[in-house]
Amino acid sequence: MNAIERARGLLSGVRRLVVLSGAGLSAESGMATFRGAGGLWEGRRVEEVATPEGFQRDPALVWEWYSQRRGQALACRPHPGHEALVAWERRPEAHLVHVTQNVDGLLQRAGAERVLELHGSLFRVKCSAGCPGEREDLRVPFPHPQPCPRCGDLLRPAVVWFHEMLPAGILEEAAREIGSAEVLLVVGTSGVVQPAASLADIALGAAIPVLEVNPEETPLSSLADVFLKGPAGKVLPSLLDS
Ligand code: APR
Repeated sequence: MNAIERARGLLSGVRRLVVLSGAGLSAESGMATFRGAGGLWEGRRVEEVATPEGFQRDPALVWEWYSQRRGQALACRPHPGHEALVAWERRPEAHLVHVTQNVDGLLQRAGAERVLELHGSLFRVKCSAGCPGEREDLRVPFPHPQPCPRCGDLLRPAVVWFHEMLPAGILEEAAREIGSAEVLLVVGTSGVVQPAASLADIALGAAIPVLEVNPEETPLSSLADVFLKGPAGKVLPSLLDS
């Protein structure tokens, strides 16, 4: 039996599926990944654009970068891999939860309903001084500087930067969903950024079957029940289509 057949076997009759995804899921839609050749971090100092300190130092530079990424994301369209996930989600009695590190909103644009955005969203803003609440903002470019309506401090992208905690409760919710899943499907993540990179351990520790889709091997590949080597846009339809 080949890898796809084994993976489809593990999925047959399953209702509760969690999909843990990273930048690779959006790659075929035209979004750059972070690491690897041509990645967003190639030739770019993370500290400048993806840390609270970087925003303190130069908020205009940070907003310029996030405005570019908003533009890229809005110019992208979901691909057949997204569509296959959403079709699976719409099956009767299916309970599919997306736990994504992506901030581009492509899953929601494909029609996904249950999406836990671990790292926030390009299309929300929040107060940089910590006032509670976030609000949707689709403007490209973002007209920085914009004051927080409550305290007047600067609005910032509502994404999780390095050295920052994830939104309250989202990791616990993701862990709960994975713990009660029948299968965990991991798509397009290098598995190097914590705490997201440890989520698969919950499934491995509970003997919940783990499937991984990635054109490259990752630290998870040798631990997964089935490693499906290839791009999400090609592999997901052949894995999920009925
Ligand atoms: N289909 C599936 N996987 C792919 C594809 C594709 N078409 N193209 C690339 N990949 C894989 C790469 O092989 C790599 O393993 O996607 C992964 C992308 O890894 P990263 O660029 O490290 O992205 P990610 O794992 O999402 O990064 C995690 O790091 O920079 C932070 O906050 C940022 O959410 C991000 C986090």
